[in-house]
Amino acid sequence: MKYVLAPLADYTNAAFRRLCHRLGADLTYTEMVSAAALAHGSSPTRHLLELLPGEGPVACQLFGHNPDELAFAAREVTALRRFVSIDLNAGCPMPRIVQGGDGAAMIRNPQLIHDCLNAIRSETDLPVTLKTRIGPSPDKVMMLELLDVAESTGCAGITAHGRFTSQKHGGPVHLDLIAELVRHARIPVTGNGGISDLPSAELMAQTGVAAIMIGRAALANPWLFGDLKTDSEPPSGDVLVRRQNAVFQDHVANLIELHAQLSRNFPDDHVPALGDYLLGFVRTHLFHYFKGRPGVGEFRRRLNEIRTLAELQSAAAPFLAQQMPIIRLPQDRRGGAEESRDCG
Ligand SMILES: Cc1cc2nc3c(=O)[nH]c(=O)nc-3n(C[C@H](O)[C@H](O)[C@H](O)COP(=O)(O)O)c2cc1C
Repeated sequence: MKYVLAPLADYTNAAFRRLCHRLGADLTYTEMVSAAALAHGSSPTRHLLELLPGEGPVACQLFGHNPDELAFAAREVTALRRFVSIDLNAGCPMPRIVQGGDGAAMIRNPQLIHDCLNAIRSETDLPVTLKTRIGPSPDKVMMLELLDVAESTGCAGITAHGRFTSQKHGGPVHLDLIAELVRHARIPVTGNGGISDLPSAELMAQTGVAAIMIGRAALANPWLFGDLKTDSEPPSGDVLVRRQNAVFQDHVANLIELHAQLSRNFPDDHVPALGDYLLGFVRTHLFHYFKGRPGVGEFRRRLNEIRTLAELQSAAAPFLAQQMPIIRLPQDRRGGAEESRDCG
């Protein structure tokens, strides 16, 4: 079975993708990238297309509903020669996306998805895939129409999130419908929704999917990929603590590397100072690694007051192995003027 990291806006940047790849993910996705923004020359959008060395296979996910913009974006993405495939998002239920006619709004219009996939296919030699849902609402199951669109446009695969748009990201995952989709499909189906451990992955595997995509559960447990591949029980006690510490530190190190790369490659884009950049990610994502540990409530509370890297180091210290440097800055940034500017 192949295990895939889902696209998660604001989370699955190069730093997190490389972490997941090293921990066993067979394929990862970029966050969704706006085709319109690429077509209109938005430089910050291009930050989402950055990869770090050693990331493994990465799919680039585009969103948009204008075939011309998607064709342009597909051309740009292909020219980078960084990605193994291009995916079209026809499943995101966020109001700002749906109101713009993108993501899940497209599910009710298979002809539009057809035109968009054709436009992407016409501009790339990369495999093209579709990520979508089983339908807009329980009274309107549409997955077979969507499969038909994917197959007739020559897609190399389809990812089915086993929830309806009306469910957003909650409620039951309809494995029976995913199994039915698999029975009809002539292209590989990736199953997605609610996978958080071995039993839920086994139930998804029984539908016959070719691969399993994991979203939210990977945010706090990126080692889940490796555990699922080796049928291992989830870690607990000291093993869990050691893993959480190591993952926190690796993730921070990856973010430092990504920050340096973004600053180098986009000098005119006002990339935030390193301290602000790291703190943002620790606040929204990385503190999850310390979930359940004594003192994590206090750590979380302090995160709102922390302003510098040095303060972050001391707040994280109780959770990490004492003998290890807490945040390993690259050699050329350690203790220099650069660091104090970032800390300021
Ligand atoms: C914070 C967040 C961001 C997401 N961003 C994207 C995205 O950029 N593209 C996409 O296709 N789906 C996105 N999704 C949906 C996930 O890829 C996935 O389909 C969904 O979370 C169900 O999988 P899970 O139950 O394993 O989390 C997002 C979901 C969440 C919670």
